[in-house]
Amino acid sequence: MKNMNLPLHVGIIMDGNGRWAKKRGLPRKIGHGEGAKVFKKCVDYCIELELNYVTFYAFSTENKNRSKDEVDALIKLFDEYLDDIRKMNDKNVKLRFLGDLEFFPEKTRKKMLDAENATGNNTGLKCNIAVNYGGRNEILHAVSRIVSENVRELTEEEFGNYLYTSGMPDVDLIIRTGGERRISNFLLWQAAYAEYVFSDVLWPDFKKKDLEEALKAFAARNRRFGK
Ligand code: FPP
Repeated sequence: MKNMNLPLHVGIIMDGNGRWAKKRGLPRKIGHGEGAKVFKKCVDYCIELELNYVTFYAFSTENKNRSKDEVDALIKLFDEYLDDIRKMNDKNVKLRFLGDLEFFPEKTRKKMLDAENATGNNTGLKCNIAVNYGGRNEILHAVSRIVSENVRELTEEEFGNYLYTSGMPDVDLIIRTGGERRISNFLLWQAAYAEYVFSDVLWPDFKKKDLEEALKAFAARNRRFGK
């Protein structure tokens, strides 16, 4: 992997937890629990592969419409993960939560902000977790801030600074597991020139070799950026 043309920023749509559980006759939330374990392992793979930025799609604005039981289970997984944030510091990971955090219970939101502060000076992997995130919602949120600041004209780069990913590079590669081939409102602005790798593997079955394969596929692509 070392001498390969690696993407600066990788986005990962972790799809297939529900089907993984269904295949085993288990409730969907058990699939999310397995998915959370794989998410943690995947952060380690990203560190081992010396990636710079990774953004995981963990909870979309649309996922809020799922059953209360499933939404509560996901919030509980975020909470538990945030209780163990010391590990992220040991790994020199800088965490950011992208999305409308107002949705979350006060306790969870505070833990998210505390985790961002606690890891803010880390210089290793920049790890973003998109929660209650929607690309359209992010763009609207940016526009309302721009309007409220009476800004009349701005460049694409300046617009990017109003997004949750302010200060970060565009996403180069988006990996989606679970067999579906769509973007589902993920990083709409930032993915203008992204490459895509779709995998049939259900997220709880995702292994380091699957990430490596996606990176190899990316390295073989001829990116012309419309030129
Ligand atoms: C999509 O699969 C997955 C989600 C809606 C949740 C993803 C969340 C995790 C993997 C947990 C992340 C945990 C932390 C701590 C960040 P799906 O439920 O839509 O699966 P399906 O398409 O098979 O039904």
